[in-house]
Amino acid sequence: MKKAGALYREGDIVEECWCGSGRPHGECHKPLDDKINYFKEKGCLVPGRELIKTPAQIEGIRKACVINTALLDLVGEKIRVGMTTEEIDKIVYDFTMSKGAVPAPLGFYGYPKSCCTSINDQVCHGIPSSRDILRSGDIVNVDVSTIYEGYYADASRMFILGKVDRRERDFVAITKECLNLGIKAAKGWGFLGDIGAAIAPFARKHGYSVVEEFGGHGVGNDFHEEPFVCHVGRKDTGMLLVPGMVLTIEPMINEGKKDIFIDEGNGWTVYTCDGGLSAQWEHTILITEDGAESLTY
Ligand code: MF3
Ligand code: CO
Repeated sequence: MKKAGALYREGDIVEECWCGSGRPHGECHKPLDDKINYFKEKGCLVPGRELIKTPAQIEGIRKACVINTALLDLVGEKIRVGMTTEEIDKIVYDFTMSKGAVPAPLGFYGYPKSCCTSINDQVCHGIPSSRDILRSGDIVNVDVSTIYEGYYADASRMFILGKVDRRERDFVAITKECLNLGIKAAKGWGFLGDIGAAIAPFARKHGYSVVEEFGGHGVGNDFHEEPFVCHVGRKDTGMLLVPGMVLTIEPMINEGKKDIFIDEGNGWTVYTCDGGLSAQWEHTILITEDGAESLTY
């Protein structure tokens, strides 16, 4: 423990840290800023300060993530064959509001519902509807995002309904492993490309393909922040990952070819071109000095 006041004399101007800790910059984020500058001078793409969350912001994001996780647990308890995706949406809306939170998708660029429910060959952004009834043999992704006290959480899980073959079960499990490999590859002072470099070869080894048009993103102070997180990548390339960054990793894996199209009717829902299955799992993660912590779980 350093003796208080040893570094400064009376009358010195002590710059307060930008993170709001109230401590002098030199005793707070300066070592981090210096290290970022070192990488920047080497020619690396580095995140702007707005992408590095302050301790207070991280606490806020954590709370949003707790609600978001409880919500997915609740969906998991209620989801069943015969239910409509509209009923899932109602569960999401009611639970979120009961917590004093707001579903982030609702009204987002005109999106009409509180969550996304993507069934079988739907890759993402399936819109809950009273006409879509879950059947035995379906695999469905439920993607929920929560705003709480101005902070954002984003996560999704797959649900397997009724009697599903081994083939589909393995596909869903391997997609979950893709997410976990991506999380393990993400760490402070590593690079964004490390995430895709861990995911894509594993997915392809199992004969699957990785969607590239959609990906993860910075999150926390807003729904979608920089950077775009591609699930295909090369190690040691792309933006430097700095402790305090918050990202989603959300690989969309196709059983067949990676090609996709967007529904022209609703302008949202993404489908596989070949009609094959697509699966996705998502967490919101915090980059730390030696790895990444999942804030959703
Ligand atoms: N979690 C999804 C994403 O990050 C949320 C989509 S909300 C929608 O892309 F409004 F765009 F559908
Ligand atoms: Co997301």
